[in-house]
Amino acid sequence: MFLKTEALDAGYGFLQILRDVNICLEEGEFSCLLGPNGTGKTTTLKTIAGLIKPMKGKVIFNGQEIGGLAGNKVVQKGVVYVSEALNLFTNMSVHDNLLMGAFTVKDHEKIKKRLDYVYDLFQRLKQRHGQLAGTMSGGERKMLAIARGLMSYPKVILVDEPSFGLSPQMTDVVFDALDVLNREQNLTVLVVEQNATKTLEATKNGYVMENGVIVMSGASKDLLADEGIQKTYLGL
Ligand SMILES: Nc1ncnc2c1ncn2[C@@H]1O[C@H](COP(=O)(O)OP(=O)(O)OP(=O)(O)O)[C@@H](O)[C@H]1O
Ligand SMILES: [Mg+2]
Repeated sequence: MFLKTEALDAGYGFLQILRDVNICLEEGEFSCLLGPNGTGKTTTLKTIAGLIKPMKGKVIFNGQEIGGLAGNKVVQKGVVYVSEALNLFTNMSVHDNLLMGAFTVKDHEKIKKRLDYVYDLFQRLKQRHGQLAGTMSGGERKMLAIARGLMSYPKVILVDEPSFGLSPQMTDVVFDALDVLNREQNLTVLVVEQNATKTLEATKNGYVMENGVIVMSGASKDLLADEGIQKTYLGL
């Protein structure tokens, strides 16, 4: 397994949120984590990304334990988290935000190549490269946050709610970009989403979390067909 959590418990201070979370992704897999609000999805991604220390259990990436490493070390290893809060540098240009994302890359040629790649993937960012990040639209900021995450040449990208606040068209743009990255770069992608139908259609496997526990997992197409999932998440 390329990325996995093993019996992971995590939370905030004494407050335990995650209980015995086991998530596994193969290299190049595009999968998702679904579940109601406040259930621990963001907590899961943040724990994998080194922003929260596990209380118990492990996070293993490429055969190495990364649980408890600092966030910047996890980025160096190749795992990037794109937060739902999109904490961009709002007073800096699109271009400078992208350069900040390349903080682990020392080779200027590599940075230039990657800039070309993300500008090609998100033409809108190329057109707006000089604009302050804080003045970009919600959809554009989402693109910028993903693009910034890509600047460090990650192997895994953890994307928290890519469709949140976006129109269906903009959601398609963002999902298409994740799909391209997954296929062209063999990038391993784990998305957290509320939009269950689109996400299950776009991904290979899915995990469903409730109250900090994984209550169901399997092939996304099977989850889509599951009656319980349809009732709870798909409004069918
Ligand atoms: N910094 C924090 N300190 C204390 N509790 C927190 C903190 N961050 C999150 N929580 C709590 O942890 C629980 C899980 O939150 P989390 O953000 O992981 O949920 P989520 O599944 O991502 O929800 P949503 O779909 O609303 O984004 C919630 O009850 C939340 O209030
Ligand atoms: Mg969340």
